[in-house]
Formats: sequence, C-alpha cells, structure tokens
Amino acid sequence: MKVPFLDLQAQYRSIQQEINEALQAVIDRTAFAGGPFVERFESEFASFCQCSFAIGCGSGTSALYLALHGLGIGEGDEVITTANTFIATAEAISACGAVPVFVDIDEQTYNMDPELFEAAITPKTKAVIPVHLYGQMAQMDSIMEIARAHDLYVIEDACQAHGAEYEGRRAGSIGDAGCFSFYPGKNLGAYGEGGAVVTNNAELAETMRTYRDHGQKKKYYHSMIGWNDRMDGLQGAVLSVKLKHLDAWNEARRENAQLYNKLLSNMDCLVTPVEADAAKHVYHIYAIRVQERDTVMKALAEKDIHCGIHYPVPIHLQDAYRFLGYEKNSLPIAERCVDELLSLPMFAELSNVQIEKVCEQIKAIHEVAV
Ligand SMILES: Cc1ncc(COP(=O)(O)O)c(C=O)c1O
Repeated sequence: MKVPFLDLQAQYRSIQQEINEALQAVIDRTAFAGGPFVERFESEFASFCQCSFAIGCGSGTSALYLALHGLGIGEGDEVITTANTFIATAEAISACGAVPVFVDIDEQTYNMDPELFEAAITPKTKAVIPVHLYGQMAQMDSIMEIARAHDLYVIEDACQAHGAEYEGRRAGSIGDAGCFSFYPGKNLGAYGEGGAVVTNNAELAETMRTYRDHGQKKKYYHSMIGWNDRMDGLQGAVLSVKLKHLDAWNEARRENAQLYNKLLSNMDCLVTPVEADAAKHVYHIYAIRVQERDTVMKALAEKDIHCGIHYPVPIHLQDAYRFLGYEKNSLPIAERCVDELLSLPMFAELSNVQIEKVCEQIKAIHEVAV
C-alpha cells in the first residue's frame, strides 16, 4: 500500500462533478481574467475569514507583495519575520525594496517568538509578518500588542492556514491584512496558481484592488502605476466549489493528526506537533521532529511512504540572503529544527489504515536503530 505525501486526485474524485460544472460555467461565459467568478469567490472567502474584504490575485507571493506595497512599505524599511518559512515571505519584503529581519521561533509551535520580535524592533521597522506555519496561527495576542505599541503594521502570512483560528478568530482577520496562497497542495488549493489578501481596512482593500489591475478603477483610466496581478476566472470558480468543503476537510485533517499523535505517543525518539491552547491548527503540514531525520525519511520511502521537509535551510542561511550577513547559530532554534523536522503524509482523504502503516514503519525503523 502506497502512502503518498498528498493525493490531489482523491480530492478531485470526491468533487468531480461540481468542479467540472464550475469550469464549464466559466468557459461558457468566457470570464477568464478577473470577472464575476473571481468576485463571487472574493466575497465568499472574505466571509469565511471573518473579514470585510478579499482581493484575489495571482499567488500567495503576490498577496504578500500587494499587502506590503499597499501599506506603503518600501526602500529603507525593515520588516520582521521568521526564518523557518517558505522563501516567498522574505521575497515579497525584498521585492518592495525593504529589508527582511529574521527572528527565532518558539520551539513548540515553530512560530515567531513574540519576545524576540519585540527585541528586533528598530526605528526602521515598519511591519511584522508572523507566519502561521504548518496551519497553526502564531501567538497573535502578544504580537498585536507589541506591534500596536510600536506603531507597526501586522501582515499575517496565512498561506498555510486557511480556516485556522486563534482564540476563535480566523487566520487573516487579526492583523492589518492576511495573505493566502491557493497553490494546488494547500488546504484550499486552486487548479493552478492563485492567492488573496483579506482585510477589514476599506482604504487598503481599494488600493490593492486597483493596483492588481494596472492601477485602474475604470478601464484605461489609471490613477496609479499598478501591475497585472488578477486572479483567473477558472481559479475563482474552482475555489468557490472547494471553499464549501474546506471546514470538513480541515476537520478530517485534525482527526488524522489526532490519530498520528495517539499512535506516535510515547516514542522518545520523536516529538509530535503541539497545538497551543489558544490555537485551532488545520494541519496543512503534520511535522514531527525526529533524530536521524534523513535516514528515517529514506527508510519510509523504501516502504512507499512519502514525506517532505519544510524547509531544509532556514532563510537567513540561504545563498540568496547571504548578503544580509547572518552567521550560523544566529537563530539557533530555527537552525536546529530544520535538521529534525519531517512532514508526514497529510491530507483529508488519508485513511486510518494508511496512518497506521506510517506509524508502524516509524516504530520499526526506530527499533532497528536502537
Ligand atoms: C508560508 C508561505 N508563504 C508564502 C507562500 C507563497 O505562496 P505561492 O506559492 O502561492 O506564491 C507559501 C506557499 O508555499 C507559503 O507556504
């Protein structure tokens, strides 16, 4: 029995007819770039996120850029974030002309440590981007309090956290803006690329909406220099269909996580994910920490169990960011975790039998090792 890391075909089979009809409806109306299917999705996604506005765009990377640029962040500004994330978080900061400042993570949740965020604030700091890594929201109460005290914008990188909650509030709804990716493998994934920014700030929403459509509110009348960052109609239609299933899919992921936790408990060679009291984790990724991670991953692959690593190199040590001058051991927790984190297969359709196989094999590998 194969256990893939992710099975998008299984998901498609479960909603095939709805998806095919939605795609056909877009083709019938030839509403391919922006348009009514995107607008409908934006309104549905805003309510899902408990926000007033959602602006669809081309990717999660673009969503982060739109939010930063829309808030006026640029040359000479510093934006604080974590190094244990996908590089897009930092790329968007750099694309605006600002400088990413990386702080270390909390060892239990792998999210931003609020005290280290506060310590990294300088007169140049304009914003903070907490990343809700793996589907669990960062400690937003402390982060908001510190940010407000220092007059900083808060942009949530919620690209892995569709439907996650913190004290009952949904990802994206707490900061000034929340950025989402609809990359196909996400909890809410498009059939191609896609992204969105959610916000309760009407002025920011209007700026981002205008910017992503060449700076025009009326066709060929340009009030600002913008960009083409519209969402495709086909993606809007697919996402509307899938959004209806998202709560159930997230619930299924949570149940899968509970079974993993139970079956992997009492194994002293590994650490299972910790769900913080205030958080509702949606397990975009179920990451354990294990010694000899690469050997375990290879042994599992030999048994047809496919895992991932998110991410093998923290951003401050990536070649692309070497110019910032971070030394090894500058963010010790992030650096230690990247060598141990192993993402096990996780998706809503994953069966209990598959989870049992993964856990049995991990135990067997451990027994051989000791
Ligand atoms: C934390 C995080 N930020 C940003 C992004 C960028 O999203 P996209 O791939 O849609 O550009 C991703 C996607 O992988 C992500 O996981």
